[in-house]
Amino acid sequence: MNVDTLAARYMAVRKHTLELAGPLSEEDCCVQSMPDASPIKWHMAHTTWFFETFILETHEPGFRPFHPLFRVLFNSYYNGVGDKHPRPQRGMLTRPPLREIVAYRHNVDERIAALLSEQTLTAELLALVETGLQHEQQHQELMLTDVKHMLSLNPLYPAYSHASFGPAPVAAPPSWVEHEAVLACIGHGGDGFCFDNETPRHRQFIESYAIASRLVNNREYLRFVEEGGYANPTWWLSEGWEWVQANRLGHPLYWRKDGASWKEFTLYGLHPLDPNRPLTHVSYFEADAYARWAGARLPSEAEWEHAVSSASSFGTHGLHPISSAREQAHGLCELFGACWQWTLSSYAPYPGYHPAKGAIGEYNGKFMSNQYVLRGSSCATPSGHARMTYRNFFPSAARWQFTGIRLARSL
Ligand code: AVJ
Ligand code: FE
Repeated sequence: MNVDTLAARYMAVRKHTLELAGPLSEEDCCVQSMPDASPIKWHMAHTTWFFETFILETHEPGFRPFHPLFRVLFNSYYNGVGDKHPRPQRGMLTRPPLREIVAYRHNVDERIAALLSEQTLTAELLALVETGLQHEQQHQELMLTDVKHMLSLNPLYPAYSHASFGPAPVAAPPSWVEHEAVLACIGHGGDGFCFDNETPRHRQFIESYAIASRLVNNREYLRFVEEGGYANPTWWLSEGWEWVQANRLGHPLYWRKDGASWKEFTLYGLHPLDPNRPLTHVSYFEADAYARWAGARLPSEAEWEHAVSSASSFGTHGLHPISSAREQAHGLCELFGACWQWTLSSYAPYPGYHPAKGAIGEYNGKFMSNQYVLRGSSCATPSGHARMTYRNFFPSAARWQFTGIRLARSL
């Protein structure tokens, strides 16, 4: 990407973060609804901190921080950068006020623009800017899921958006797409951006399998709920069963029972559960239990990627996320833009994986324990952010992201 395109892209991505905060009040922006979620204000500052710490600090002539303590306040988890404000206390930061965070954003934007207008720019610097933008896009998705969680705790069930928001309904019945055993190539190999955890591209043997053409929908999952799925240990992993009991769970995160009918809290308020929409906001434990009840299993990440890449109409490297969740390709739909899809693959390094040197090497690699890989992308993922080789990851009980289920089985 040339510098002018990158500078324009920088401005567009940065502006989108402010647009996402547009419907929110200052109070909305300060609250932290749980340790996993962060205040909107913190997201706005931390994404700015990323550019200031990883780019300006090392590349700006005569660097001086916008505020000397922001380096600690908005450090998420980089031990290589130094001290951090404790994650569960991000919601205590009523100061600095929102307007100061906005000023911080504008200040860093001007300094990055100045840097990008210089004559001698290394490829390394341009790659860092791109990483900062990809990082900000990840936080744009987190802003939406964190706001949804916060609003769901308010008995008024406020709407974030007036327009419908969420994975689109699909009426078609699911079918199985079958594949013979294959030595597949997995991981990112092209020239475009990818995160380090998608590399290196490597071979992986896959036994014959079938993968579902679409995601599990609310109608299908409701049967599991109403047939007592959450009350029967048969379907659950031991840890999952403990989790269900300890938290007295009986349905997905945002379902609410209203008399005899079910409602779902969405980013546009509380609405009747739409049976044709894909099920979303389930944990790995719920996805795994449902799959077992349905006589199937979750796909491995290699199966998922092979199924998507084996499409004749796409090259192995050149697949772009399908813009509409309803669009069909190679018999599979809802691959991108609906819900992240749990796989049964533990989030682990690919053979030969090496994280980057220095603090930025903490970005992905150090989280490779006790988490599962999710594939695809969701309705909250900024367009153009995800790709076929993208590896999202969350612990087995997390369900505040737009996470859903695509079934698979062995043949
Ligand atoms: C890939 C979504 C698990 O939420 O920590 C944000 C994204 N990485 N800042 C996370 C991320 C650094 C990451 N997930
Ligand atoms: Fe981050």
